[in-house]
Amino acid sequence: MPKLYIETVGCQMNVLDSELVVAALRNEGYELTSDTAVADTVLFNTCSVREHAEEKIYSALGRLKNAKQQNPGKVIGVIGCMAQNHQRTVFERAPYVDLIVGPGQLHQIPELIRKVQSGGGQQIEVSLGRKEGTRESIARSHESFDPLRDPTMRPTPFQAYVRIQIGCDKFCTYCIVPSVRGPEQSRPPEHILAEARQLAGEGCKEITLLGQTVNSYKFGEGERITRFSDLIYSLHEIDGIERIKFVTNYPKDMTDDLLTAVRDLPKCSKYLHVPAQSGSDAQLRAMRRGYTVGEYREMLARTYEQIPGVAVTSDFIVGFSGETDEDFQLSMDLVRESRFKNSFIFKYSERPGTKGAMLLPDDVPDDVKRARNNEMLALQNEISEADNQLFLGQNVQVLVEGLSKSAEKKAGAQTAAGESRNREHVVQLTGRTMCDRIVVFDGNRRQIGETIDIAIYDANAHTLFGTVVVQHVGLELVTLR
Ligand code: 5AD
Ligand code: SF4
Repeated sequence: MPKLYIETVGCQMNVLDSELVVAALRNEGYELTSDTAVADTVLFNTCSVREHAEEKIYSALGRLKNAKQQNPGKVIGVIGCMAQNHQRTVFERAPYVDLIVGPGQLHQIPELIRKVQSGGGQQIEVSLGRKEGTRESIARSHESFDPLRDPTMRPTPFQAYVRIQIGCDKFCTYCIVPSVRGPEQSRPPEHILAEARQLAGEGCKEITLLGQTVNSYKFGEGERITRFSDLIYSLHEIDGIERIKFVTNYPKDMTDDLLTAVRDLPKCSKYLHVPAQSGSDAQLRAMRRGYTVGEYREMLARTYEQIPGVAVTSDFIVGFSGETDEDFQLSMDLVRESRFKNSFIFKYSERPGTKGAMLLPDDVPDDVKRARNNEMLALQNEISEADNQLFLGQNVQVLVEGLSKSAEKKAGAQTAAGESRNREHVVQLTGRTMCDRIVVFDGNRRQIGETIDIAIYDANAHTLFGTVVVQHVGLELVTLR
């Protein structure tokens, strides 16, 4: 059997793309390996959002140079966003690469590998650039392929990503995504519902809907428009699906009908990722985010008011072009008052081809970016920890996802030592609450995939710690420990 090594970096879209590529290659008889040395095909599914992610791929390719010299039959491929972004530059920087495949051409991978193996030479398949055709032809060239899924590739059998939209038309000035993922296209609701039903039939309990601006989802025209909230109501009807999540939201499209759906539908996760990016109007204007800080605040106030107990997370970019100390302090003010469950903070990385790179200088020194990043992270951690402490003594409902990181390591070591993993009855497990908080507790492997009550006794900025609550009929709640 030919062996496939695949490494995935970047966002959930990429995780899903890799799942689909693996499914296609499994159909061709491939099996997975975690060792590049024995792999017949090595694929890197890549990210272009920041320069660092791209440079790491070139380093990884560099490490494969000798292996390729010794075994010229090994097929090496760069797929995904960086393939679309760098195109032939990848061949120039790493001439021993065989395949360059953009996110819109992933379905061609099995055939392209065959072409390489039958002596066809280097293969490149990418989509049209945003100025290389009509909107329709560009959109068509970014086609994605979703129906083919391999249940064994999912993070767990009871959780799955479902793509509802590809591309982005927002063109924030710092962002490469509209170039590499193409025009915004919403998937027909029938296709999404059919996929969700199929997943539910396979035992999937939680679906996470994916889109760059997932809440901008809209399908159809005139009277027959399906809004994002309509789609969620339909998905909610599917038996077997217990939880519905979605990422990433665009602040301006956080409409009341969506907030009402999240509030009223019990299967809807009370968790919203709504990136603010900055707390300064000057910065938001330079980023062309399309809203003011006042509008973001209004949206957040509405969200907190309408959905009791909702957890909101955000992204921030520090050190974007022209960011002064005052601008940064305005972002800190927004973090301080917003009580985000978590914020993902990024140092600005100039991306060639974006409006930002063309028109705005990358003028904040790296040490200032780093200092601001650390300062904001420290503030967010303080807030996350204080808010997590409010859970002490409470019971939360957790969907158990699997072994905790430390239990996984231990299990790995035991397997390596040839010991039976089933001998252990109590293992450390991890899962998430309805508002996406991570909970770690002692339990039994049989609980993986179940939704159970946990009593919280400790918390830090990122994790709640608890014990399983056992309900005895006619008795009071008794906790096990
Ligand atoms: N530099 C730094 N961070 C970026 N992001 C997007 N583009 C850039 C860039 N050029 C961040 C944004 C976005 C997240 C996925 O990545 O915060 O929400
Ligand atoms: Fe990038 Fe802005 Fe689109 Fe998000 S909304 S993917 S940040 S262009």
